[in-house]
Amino acid sequence: MMLARPYCAVVVLLLLAGVSRTGEGNSNPGFMARITKKGLEYVQQYVVTTLKEQLSTIRLPDLSGHSKIDLIGWVSYDFHSLKIHRFVLQNWNLNLLPELGIGVFLSNSYMSVGGDWKVNKAFITLDGSFELKANGISISLSLNLDKDQSGRPTASVTECSNSIGHISIHLSGSLSWILNLFHEIIENNIKMVLEEKVCDMVTEFTTSYLELYLRTLPVTTMIDEVASLDYRLVGAPQVTSEGLDIPFKGEFFSQSHPSHVPFEAPSMMLPPQHDRMIYLAVSQYMLNTAIWVYHHAGCMKVVIQNEDLARLYPNMEVELEVSLESEPLLTLTPGNVTLSPVIDIRGLALLPSSSDQRTLFQLRVNTNVSIAIGVNSNRIVGSVTIGSELKFEVKQSNLGNINKKLMESIFSYYTIKTIYSSLNAKLQEGFPLPLPRETSLNSVELQIHKNLLFVGAYFD
Ligand SMILES: *[C@@H]1O[C@H](CO)[C@@H](O)[C@H](O)[C@H]1NC(C)=O
Ligand SMILES: *[C@@H]1O[C@H](CO)[C@@H](O)[C@H](O)[C@H]1NC(C)=O
Repeated sequence: MMLARPYCAVVVLLLLAGVSRTGEGNSNPGFMARITKKGLEYVQQYVVTTLKEQLSTIRLPDLSGHSKIDLIGWVSYDFHSLKIHRFVLQNWNLNLLPELGIGVFLSNSYMSVGGDWKVNKAFITLDGSFELKANGISISLSLNLDKDQSGRPTASVTECSNSIGHISIHLSGSLSWILNLFHEIIENNIKMVLEEKVCDMVTEFTTSYLELYLRTLPVTTMIDEVASLDYRLVGAPQVTSEGLDIPFKGEFFSQSHPSHVPFEAPSMMLPPQHDRMIYLAVSQYMLNTAIWVYHHAGCMKVVIQNEDLARLYPNMEVELEVSLESEPLLTLTPGNVTLSPVIDIRGLALLPSSSDQRTLFQLRVNTNVSIAIGVNSNRIVGSVTIGSELKFEVKQSNLGNINKKLMESIFSYYTIKTIYSSLNAKLQEGFPLPLPRETSLNSVELQIHKNLLFVGAYFD
């Protein structure tokens, strides 16, 4: 009988209640996202399209007033049911203002607004419809990016100004010529109101739409019953002359054992690449937090029972308990991902008289495992490629000489059959990258640098 029993088969389903993970002194990111200028320009196009859709649903206030007209005298007028028919936003200019934010400047935009008018003079009421065109609209605004308490990015408009070049109004309806007599007054009035309104609209859009969109960024992601991934921002997004660098916690944690990894994230330096729209950097630290969590959940423990063992020790039941002597270190060197586990193998005799076990011998096995890394629809995935030979050493034996050769062959067999294949299954699931709703990547390029995986891509 051959049996390898993973210890992690049953894990308590976690309470999803947010585990308080305060008191983290170190705020170095374990994961960074860089959106380059090219990426921001792409995002901007998307924002413009959405902004246009949003603007067409905006309601403008009614405009009313009095005016004195030659020959006729005072009339009161009322423009109502105003609706934006067309808003053409053009000549966008994005300015990266390092340490300040992002400046957006639009010039030569125009809009058309339609609606109804009504004029009262004594007992007479005239009405009709109108079409208004505003040309030469320029808008200048500054966006500030930050993070909120929950670690999500926020965007706010810190400054907005705009001006409108020229407004012309075309009135139709009964006796509209009367109104045309004072269209200049109306045009100036409307221009003032619109100038006030444009920045309100843009600010409103930013706080509602953009904020909601940014809220779709996952801040914690559950990987499986054992591990979750903390993708909260550890700092505000940094504007640089080349784009935007966004620092994420990038740390695996266990919700059932909410203790902290005993090592800290070192500071992170991204390679100076800016050709693609987005770069994502996964640190060696982040990958090692995953190993730490799975190791501490007891997932890296296997029990081997084998008929050869039974033959070797006929009067007792013996099993091999395979675990890790310490967390295996994963190292990223240019071009290579290597896992270097130090494996502890205990030969245990199961005593028939009690539930106790007696340690017969203890072996230490060293090996290096190469892992191939890839990106598969927004997930980082991997697979074991080569394992170096297994180096055995006897740590302790209560049996005198032990049959090392046999142990080696039993263990090597299991390494390939069980351990590598369950490791592969886990690696193939991989883990997700933090991307907001409806964002996917294409033309993905993956590089392995010292201490980090660097993924460059275009937005889809
Ligand atoms: C990476 O792996 C290849 C193939 O295993 C090896 O030839 C090369 O020396 C390794 N590079 C480093 C920096 O370890
Ligand atoms: C693993 O790799 C390290 C560094 O290249 C080397 O010193 C060590 O001997 C290797 N171990 C095994 C078991 O091959």
